[in-house]
Amino acid sequence: MLFDTHTHFDDRQFNPDRHEIIRSLPEYGVGLALCPGCDIKSSRNCVALAEEYDHIYAAVGTHPHDAKSMTDEDLREYEALASHPKVKAIGEIGLDYHYDFSPRDVQKFRFVQQMKLAKKVGLPVIIHDREAHGDCLEIVKKFPDIKGVYHCYSGSLEDAKVLVGMGWYLSFTGVITYPNARKALEIIEWMPMDRIMIETDSPYLAPVPQRGKRNDSRFVGLVRDKIAQVKGISVEEAERITTENGKRFFSID
Ligand code: NI
Repeated sequence: MLFDTHTHFDDRQFNPDRHEIIRSLPEYGVGLALCPGCDIKSSRNCVALAEEYDHIYAAVGTHPHDAKSMTDEDLREYEALASHPKVKAIGEIGLDYHYDFSPRDVQKFRFVQQMKLAKKVGLPVIIHDREAHGDCLEIVKKFPDIKGVYHCYSGSLEDAKVLVGMGWYLSFTGVITYPNARKALEIIEWMPMDRIMIETDSPYLAPVPQRGKRNDSRFVGLVRDKIAQVKGISVEEAERITTENGKRFFSID
């Protein structure tokens, strides 16, 4: 059974067929999927999907893109939602200096606030870090009691070693199937197998040969295949271990 640990089923690109796809996942071998929120509305929608489907779990939080529209009221609602039995993390939160959709000081302020919330409610975090590696790691290091995962990991091998040393996980998307993925593959080669999670980040980042099309959780097996190939293990073993990792990380029985 596969676990897609990061998928945006609340995204409007799924409006025509969201429920059909979610219902069909077990037929495609995908037994679990986790939907992280991007803002308050998206977080509520992810929780609603998790309530509707046994195999869907949720995280709540504001993405760095939306930091500028986040309010303290949102933070209080995230705290209330965090006690929901199907909310398993705070995320996705972090920094994005590639797009800079929100001013960097605002991104940092809301990121730190949500790290503090994670500590308060005792949940792990899902980190989005794009071209902000130094600042992101600096903030993460200030919260030694918090465990987290860097989703769609794009940092260095050196930072990966620091994060794994802190007990953190790294998660990989279809990007590792692209021809220019050499750095990520080197990191996977080094990674202890028990710290790797797989995800689609759908509807984005469709793996080869779906690249360029809308992505969804049914394609997470292509990420598993690449992990198996790089680690030199069987597809079955890669699937078993990455699913165990996801269940352990998100405290799912
Ligand atoms: Ni995402």
